[in-house]
Amino acid sequence: MASEDLHVVILAAGKGTRMRSALPKVLHQAGGLPLIEWVVRLARSLEPRSITLVLGHGADEVRAWFARASDVQFVGQEPQLGTGHALLQTRSLLDGKSGRVLLLSGDVPLLTAASVRGLLDAQAAQRAAVVVATARVANPTGYGRIVRKDGALARIVEHRDASEAERAIDEINSGVYVFELAPLFGALARVGSANAQGEYYLPDLIGIHVQDGRTVDAQVVLDSDEIRGINTRAELAEVGRLLQTRTNLALMAGGVTLVDPAPAYIGPDVSIGQDSVIQPFVFLEGATSVGDNCEIHAGVRIVNATIARNVKIFNHSVIVDSTVGEGSYIGPFARLRPASAVGQRVHIGNFVEVKKSTLGEGTKIGHLSYIGDATVGAGVNIGAGTITCNYDGHQKHQTVIGDGAFVGSDSTLVAPVTIGSAAYVAAGSSITQDVPDGGLGIARARQANKPGWAAERAAKRQSR
Ligand code: UD1
Ligand code: CA
Repeated sequence: MASEDLHVVILAAGKGTRMRSALPKVLHQAGGLPLIEWVVRLARSLEPRSITLVLGHGADEVRAWFARASDVQFVGQEPQLGTGHALLQTRSLLDGKSGRVLLLSGDVPLLTAASVRGLLDAQAAQRAAVVVATARVANPTGYGRIVRKDGALARIVEHRDASEAERAIDEINSGVYVFELAPLFGALARVGSANAQGEYYLPDLIGIHVQDGRTVDAQVVLDSDEIRGINTRAELAEVGRLLQTRTNLALMAGGVTLVDPAPAYIGPDVSIGQDSVIQPFVFLEGATSVGDNCEIHAGVRIVNATIARNVKIFNHSVIVDSTVGEGSYIGPFARLRPASAVGQRVHIGNFVEVKKSTLGEGTKIGHLSYIGDATVGAGVNIGAGTITCNYDGHQKHQTVIGDGAFVGSDSTLVAPVTIGSAAYVAAGSSITQDVPDGGLGIARARQANKPGWAAERAAKRQSR
């Protein structure tokens, strides 16, 4: 059967009570993405004809996450009467179509495309009405058990409804299935709710297909971790670590050094060039890209930023929605806020904040400065404690600093203002007027010295 006949349905209506959260369970993040995003990405990798999410609790928030995804459709399930009832909600969208349905759970993010392809192939080879993915696990408590008769799949029994003998079975239902569409909804409508939870159990479909004499099968996935569902925050952390490990292994295979992969928090959409070294406790998020041969030191956080090659980012610097040019040094303790474009071979030192500013090649801002809404040329030297006063309480204003300018320490540049190229600003100035190219701006009270003042004061005190 061709893959264009594949429809993917993802169940995500459940409450996730044990998360104890106001956020829908499937929007909790693991390995840098919400759980449901991992599952949708898996679905997309199969190039199916449709992807349908069944939503209930937190439906609006889940829809909002996918607001810009045109390839995902939604159906509501209200109230949530069980997994069988959940799939039944897609009937109006899928009934009468040809092909098959891959059913996934929104809270099972580790499943791989390779395992799903195995399941799809098995279903196609046998022309089975349903193939269910199973696993053998050390502790099957809570899962549905795979009941086999003479080796063949007979039915699935939920933990709560299982006998002692059935509870001893260690092959469990993963909750991932491939269904032939033609007999699906007719059989699904016959699933009842006479069980311990009074719910419509999707796994009961297996028994119905068997009664009707259709082929059913169970396929064991090789890695039982893959089918791990998340019910608690402890499981979220464990699964998040497994997802992170996959990302880390791919990065290391690509020539990146992770000094200690355990405390690395690197999202799946981050790219890092060869021979870059990432120290422990580094956070690289969103669509960040780091070039070849960079050093990212401990405690750095970079979000949606582009870092060119040969860049060093020292400890505890934060860079968001910005770019850094080749050979630049940033930090320690520097902050690049959104829309900062740092040129090549720029040095930004400790306690420097840059916002919505452009810095030209070779410019240096070594210490304790705020540069906001500024266009700074190449080869500029900005002394310690320089502040662009960009905000008048109502509006933001621009500061322009020409190539080769030298701004003395502890200056305030009151925007809008321009410092000409190769101009100087005397230390401690409050600059409110433009400084011409090659000129000196000096704006501070003139110093007066009083010789002998200390001795005079001491004498006065003694005579009192
Ligand atoms: C289900 C299976 C069980 C299997 C286990 C694997 C049933 C009855 N049992 O149990 O055999 O071993 O998964 O993890 O199917 N959902 C809805 N609407 C509902 C109920 C659930 O959309 O009315 C969604 C949930 O959000 C979740 C998925 O279906 O994504 C599974 O539901 P859950 O309640 O976690 O099922 P389990 O009890 O774990
Ligand atoms: Ca579950």
